[in-house]
Amino acid sequence: GYLVAEDGAIRYVGEALPVQYRGLPVEDWGDRLILPSFADLHLHAPQYVMLGMGMDLPLLDWLNTYTFRTEARFADQEFARKAYRQLARELIAWGTTRVVMFSSIHTEATWILMEELEAAGVTGYVGKVNMDRNGGPGYQETCEESLRETERWLDGCSFAHIKPILTPRFTPSCSDELMAGLGKLARERNLLVQSHLSENRGEIAWVKELCPDCGRYWETYDKFGLWKDRTAMAHCVHSDQAEQEAMARAGVVAVHCAASNVNLCSGTAPVRELIDRGVWVALGSDIAGGDKLSMAANVVLTLRSSKVKSMETGVPFLTVPEAWYLGTTAGHKYFGGGEGFTVGDRLHAMVVDDGTLPPPARELSLQERLERSLYLMEKDHITAVYSDGRRVK
Ligand code: GUN
Ligand code: FE
Repeated sequence: GYLVAEDGAIRYVGEALPVQYRGLPVEDWGDRLILPSFADLHLHAPQYVMLGMGMDLPLLDWLNTYTFRTEARFADQEFARKAYRQLARELIAWGTTRVVMFSSIHTEATWILMEELEAAGVTGYVGKVNMDRNGGPGYQETCEESLRETERWLDGCSFAHIKPILTPRFTPSCSDELMAGLGKLARERNLLVQSHLSENRGEIAWVKELCPDCGRYWETYDKFGLWKDRTAMAHCVHSDQAEQEAMARAGVVAVHCAASNVNLCSGTAPVRELIDRGVWVALGSDIAGGDKLSMAANVVLTLRSSKVKSMETGVPFLTVPEAWYLGTTAGHKYFGGGEGFTVGDRLHAMVVDDGTLPPPARELSLQERLERSLYLMEKDHITAVYSDGRRVK
């Protein structure tokens, strides 16, 4: 098959090369698989340094014991540079070229993160985190400081491929006053928003206590203009029918993080139900609630979590093609991409070499090769990566 790209955009995909493209420079990948790259729509950059830690704790204890302390370290710009350089390179090595990402509360470290992603060839959105309550003494801003720093951060963002996104951590971290200020900023500067929603039962009960005027969790965002088209809400494990319908109505994206939801015993998200109700679902690694940066691994964990859900409820589980779609196209659409490789899209692709996997007992179909590659993928199998039309691995 042939994929023709020109100035970073896809011009043609098909089995034969049309005459007008004959004579163009060719990169011949032989029998390897040329696939859309992965999109990771929810991960915490500063938590990269605490992967695989505190995994026996539920969400709120895990945040208080490990997470906030770890993120506080990113006041140190040298430490941030080192961690973020490695993270950015690892993302590309694993074939992730588009991200929607949380940074920490620190303005400088967030710019450093954006610089390092840009340098490695990662594209997408990064948010300086806002929190003015319940972070403990070492990891919290005042409301005034949080809004002022957010404006300073926004004014200093001028990266070609990495754009800012507003990031109230979640309702327990943000006072009404802060939420209102962020809602105003979102409107004035036409910014996208990301946060967390209905991840854990303890969290949901706490939100009820903190916001007695809001009947449901989602209303705590909606009240301040933060619940809108393409707001990326991580988790939605315990979103009921009304919350799911509110997502579908508003065009809010549910970012499913299967690994994290099992690690922190949050639950198994109702992904099939969300999709059937017309909610746009994509996938996130949610490191370090999730323990794997590899989106291939997260696609597989999505399948496992869906099967557990199915065994418990009888709802049909997600199939391999469906989970693959969630980890690729469903995420790329957040950035304006079309279905799979679509003519006119920016080129985000990876080349996978399945030739070193166990010798197959018979000739495999393309779909079988994709399934096997997903389940067994290691970094070394990803031979090349293209991000926004540039070869970055
Ligand atoms: N809710 C608020 N902050 C976090 C976080 O860092 N990770 C996860 N999984 N949930 C959160
Ligand atoms: Fe998260």
